[in-house]
Amino acid sequence: MRTLVIDHPLVTHKLTALRDTESDTATFRSLTAELVTLLAYEATREMRVQPVSVTTPVGMASGVKLAGPVPLIVPVLRAGIGMLEGMTRLLPMAEVGFVGLRRDEESLVASTYADRLPADLTGRDTFVLDPMLATGGTLATVISMLANRGAASVTAICLLAAPEGLRHVEAAFAADEVRVVTASVDERLNEKGYIVPGLGDAGDRLFGQI
Ligand code: URA
Repeated sequence: MRTLVIDHPLVTHKLTALRDTESDTATFRSLTAELVTLLAYEATREMRVQPVSVTTPVGMASGVKLAGPVPLIVPVLRAGIGMLEGMTRLLPMAEVGFVGLRRDEESLVASTYADRLPADLTGRDTFVLDPMLATGGTLATVISMLANRGAASVTAICLLAAPEGLRHVEAAFAADEVRVVTASVDERLNEKGYIVPGLGDAGDRLFGQI
Protein backbone atom coordinates (compact mmCIF):
# COMPACT_ATOMS: atom_id res chain seq x y z
CA MET A 1 0.00 0.00 0.00
CA ARG A 2 1.12 3.51 -0.70
CA THR A 3 0.13 6.55 1.39
CA LEU A 4 0.03 10.02 -0.10
CA VAL A 5 -0.32 12.96 2.31
CA ILE A 6 -1.26 16.12 0.43
CA ASP A 7 0.42 19.06 2.14
CA HIS A 8 -0.77 21.76 -0.24
CA PRO A 9 -1.50 25.12 1.47
CA LEU A 10 -5.13 25.15 0.23
CA VAL A 11 -5.69 21.64 1.57
CA THR A 12 -4.22 22.48 4.97
CA HIS A 13 -6.16 25.75 5.11
CA LYS A 14 -9.48 24.02 4.41
CA LEU A 15 -8.71 21.12 6.73
CA THR A 16 -7.97 23.51 9.59
CA ALA A 17 -11.33 25.22 9.09
CA LEU A 18 -13.02 21.80 8.90
CA ARG A 19 -11.55 20.75 12.25
CA ASP A 20 -12.82 23.92 13.96
CA THR A 21 -15.83 23.30 16.25
CA GLU A 22 -17.06 26.75 15.16
CA SER A 23 -17.69 25.46 11.61
CA ASP A 24 -21.44 24.79 11.28
CA THR A 25 -23.04 22.06 9.16
CA ALA A 26 -23.31 24.19 6.01
CA THR A 27 -19.67 25.25 6.25
CA PHE A 28 -18.57 21.71 7.07
CA ARG A 29 -20.38 20.33 4.00
CA SER A 30 -18.96 22.83 1.56
CA LEU A 31 -15.44 22.54 2.97
CA THR A 32 -15.66 18.75 2.71
CA ALA A 33 -16.67 18.96 -0.95
CA GLU A 34 -13.84 21.39 -1.75
CA LEU A 35 -11.28 19.33 0.13
CA VAL A 36 -12.34 16.11 -1.60
CA THR A 37 -11.99 17.74 -5.02
CA LEU A 38 -8.45 18.80 -4.15
CA LEU A 39 -7.56 15.34 -2.84
CA ALA A 40 -9.23 13.73 -5.87
CA TYR A 41 -6.98 15.73 -8.17
CA GLU A 42 -3.99 13.86 -6.70
CA ALA A 43 -5.87 10.58 -6.24
CA THR A 44 -6.64 10.36 -9.96
CA ARG A 45 -3.07 11.11 -11.07
CA GLU A 46 -2.40 7.52 -12.16
CA MET A 47 -5.59 7.01 -14.16
CA ARG A 48 -4.90 5.49 -17.55
CA VAL A 49 -5.43 7.56 -20.68
CA GLN A 50 -5.50 6.91 -24.41
CA PRO A 51 -4.34 9.24 -27.16
CA VAL A 52 -6.93 11.17 -29.17
CA SER A 53 -6.85 14.10 -31.53
CA VAL A 54 -9.43 16.88 -31.74
CA THR A 55 -10.16 19.66 -34.16
CA THR A 56 -9.76 23.12 -32.67
CA PRO A 57 -11.04 26.26 -34.43
CA VAL A 58 -7.54 26.70 -35.87
CA GLY A 59 -6.17 23.19 -36.42
CA MET A 60 -5.66 19.72 -35.02
CA ALA A 61 -4.48 19.06 -31.46
CA SER A 62 -3.20 15.82 -29.97
CA GLY A 63 -4.49 15.01 -26.52
CA VAL A 64 -5.77 12.18 -24.35
CA LYS A 65 -9.00 10.88 -22.91
CA LEU A 66 -9.49 8.66 -19.90
CA ALA A 67 -9.24 5.01 -20.90
CA GLY A 68 -12.12 2.64 -20.16
CA PRO A 69 -13.63 0.93 -18.28
CA VAL A 70 -15.37 3.71 -16.33
CA PRO A 71 -14.11 4.16 -12.78
CA LEU A 72 -16.23 3.25 -9.77
CA ILE A 73 -16.66 5.59 -6.80
CA VAL A 74 -17.59 3.90 -3.53
CA PRO A 75 -18.76 6.13 -0.70
CA VAL A 76 -18.83 4.27 2.62
CA LEU A 77 -22.18 4.93 4.31
CA ARG A 78 -22.99 7.21 5.91
CA ALA A 79 -20.23 9.83 6.14
CA GLY A 80 -18.75 8.96 2.74
CA ILE A 81 -21.93 10.30 1.10
CA GLY A 82 -20.82 13.77 2.18
CA MET A 83 -17.74 13.35 -0.03
CA LEU A 84 -19.56 12.24 -3.18
CA GLU A 85 -20.30 15.65 -4.67
CA GLY A 86 -16.65 16.73 -4.43
CA MET A 87 -15.56 13.54 -6.18
CA THR A 88 -18.13 13.45 -9.01
CA ARG A 89 -17.21 17.04 -9.79
CA LEU A 90 -13.92 15.64 -11.15
CA LEU A 91 -15.22 12.30 -12.42
CA PRO A 92 -18.76 12.99 -13.68
CA MET A 93 -18.71 9.86 -15.86
CA ALA A 94 -17.98 7.49 -12.95
CA GLU A 95 -20.42 4.89 -11.67
CA VAL A 96 -21.24 4.94 -7.97
CA GLY A 97 -21.57 1.90 -5.70
CA PHE A 98 -22.33 1.89 -1.99
CA VAL A 99 -21.05 -0.02 1.00
CA GLY A 100 -22.38 0.24 4.55
CA LEU A 101 -20.45 -0.97 7.56
CA ARG A 102 -21.43 -0.72 11.18
CA ARG A 103 -18.75 -0.36 13.83
CA ASP A 104 -19.38 -2.03 17.19
CA GLU A 105 -18.72 0.77 19.71
CA GLU A 106 -17.01 -1.59 22.18
CA SER A 107 -15.02 -4.01 20.04
CA LEU A 108 -14.61 -1.40 17.22
CA VAL A 109 -15.05 -4.32 14.77
CA ALA A 110 -16.90 -3.46 11.53
CA SER A 111 -19.65 -5.63 9.98
CA THR A 112 -21.26 -5.12 6.53
CA TYR A 113 -24.95 -4.13 6.36
CA ALA A 114 -25.10 -2.86 2.74
CA ASP A 115 -23.29 -4.07 -0.38
CA ARG A 116 -24.36 -2.33 -3.59
CA LEU A 117 -21.30 -3.03 -5.71
CA PRO A 118 -21.05 -4.56 -9.20
CA ALA A 119 -20.28 -8.29 -9.02
CA ASP A 120 -17.44 -7.93 -11.56
CA LEU A 121 -14.92 -5.10 -11.30
CA THR A 122 -12.31 -6.57 -13.60
CA GLY A 123 -9.83 -3.95 -14.77
CA ARG A 124 -11.62 -1.03 -13.11
CA ASP A 125 -10.08 1.77 -11.06
CA THR A 126 -12.04 2.26 -7.85
CA PHE A 127 -12.11 5.18 -5.42
CA VAL A 128 -13.32 4.64 -1.86
CA LEU A 129 -14.64 7.68 0.00
CA ASP A 130 -14.44 7.54 3.78
CA PRO A 131 -13.60 10.73 5.66
CA MET A 132 -11.93 9.14 8.68
CA LEU A 133 -9.37 6.32 8.50
CA ALA A 134 -9.46 5.40 12.18
CA THR A 135 -8.80 1.75 13.13
CA GLY A 136 -8.61 0.76 9.48
CA GLY A 137 -11.08 -2.13 9.95
CA THR A 138 -13.74 -0.62 7.72
CA LEU A 139 -11.33 0.36 4.97
CA ALA A 140 -9.62 -3.04 4.98
CA THR A 141 -13.02 -4.74 4.58
CA VAL A 142 -14.03 -2.46 1.68
CA ILE A 143 -10.67 -2.90 -0.08
CA SER A 144 -11.07 -6.69 0.18
CA MET A 145 -14.58 -6.50 -1.31
CA LEU A 146 -13.27 -4.52 -4.29
CA ALA A 147 -10.09 -6.55 -4.78
CA ASN A 148 -12.03 -9.84 -4.61
CA ARG A 149 -14.20 -8.60 -7.50
CA GLY A 150 -11.18 -7.89 -9.67
CA ALA A 151 -10.63 -4.13 -9.28
CA ALA A 152 -7.42 -3.00 -11.01
CA SER A 153 -6.73 -0.44 -8.29
CA VAL A 154 -8.27 0.79 -5.06
CA THR A 155 -7.57 4.35 -3.98
CA ALA A 156 -9.08 5.46 -0.68
CA ILE A 157 -9.66 9.18 -0.20
CA CYS A 158 -9.77 10.02 3.50
CA LEU A 159 -9.84 13.54 4.93
CA LEU A 160 -7.86 12.34 7.95
CA ALA A 161 -5.95 9.21 8.90
CA ALA A 162 -4.69 7.79 12.18
CA PRO A 163 -1.28 6.06 12.21
CA GLU A 164 -2.96 2.96 13.69
CA GLY A 165 -5.39 2.75 10.76
CA LEU A 166 -2.69 3.21 8.16
CA ARG A 167 -0.62 0.44 9.77
CA HIS A 168 -3.63 -1.89 9.77
CA VAL A 169 -4.37 -1.38 6.06
CA GLU A 170 -0.69 -1.50 5.13
CA ALA A 171 -0.28 -4.85 6.91
CA ALA A 172 -3.26 -6.28 5.01
CA PHE A 173 -2.42 -5.01 1.50
CA ALA A 174 1.13 -4.88 0.20
CA ALA A 175 0.25 -4.13 -3.43
CA ASP A 176 1.11 -0.76 -5.00
CA GLU A 177 -2.39 -0.75 -6.52
CA VAL A 178 -3.82 0.02 -3.07
CA ARG A 179 -3.36 3.66 -2.09
CA VAL A 180 -4.57 6.02 0.61
CA VAL A 181 -4.73 9.73 -0.16
CA THR A 182 -5.27 11.98 2.84
CA ALA A 183 -4.92 15.57 3.97
CA SER A 184 -3.26 14.64 7.27
CA VAL A 185 -1.94 11.79 9.39
CA ASP A 186 -2.97 12.80 12.90
CA GLU A 187 -1.43 11.83 16.26
CA ARG A 188 -3.39 8.75 17.38
CA LEU A 189 -6.73 7.18 18.23
CA ASN A 190 -8.32 7.74 21.63
CA GLU A 191 -9.93 4.98 23.73
CA LYS A 192 -13.24 5.46 21.86
CA GLY A 193 -11.61 5.05 18.46
CA TYR A 194 -11.74 8.76 17.58
CA ILE A 195 -8.87 10.38 15.76
CA VAL A 196 -6.92 12.90 17.90
CA PRO A 197 -7.01 15.85 17.33
CA GLY A 198 -9.23 14.90 14.35
CA LEU A 199 -12.48 16.71 13.75
CA GLY A 200 -14.97 14.69 15.82
CA ASP A 201 -17.68 12.50 14.32
CA ALA A 202 -17.62 13.27 10.59
CA GLY A 203 -21.09 11.76 9.99
CA ASP A 204 -22.67 13.82 12.77
CA ARG A 205 -21.00 17.00 11.58
CA LEU A 206 -22.18 16.39 8.01
CA PHE A 207 -25.68 15.10 8.70
CA GLY A 208 -26.55 15.74 12.36
CA GLN A 209 -26.76 13.37 15.32
CA ILE A 210 -29.34 10.92 14.01
N1 URA B 1 -15.07 8.25 12.74
C1 URA B 1 -15.28 9.59 12.90
O1 URA B 1 -16.28 10.13 12.43
N2 URA B 1 -14.37 10.29 13.61
C2 URA B 1 -13.26 9.73 14.14
O2 URA B 1 -12.46 10.45 14.75
C3 URA B 1 -13.06 8.34 13.95
C4 URA B 1 -13.97 7.62 13.25
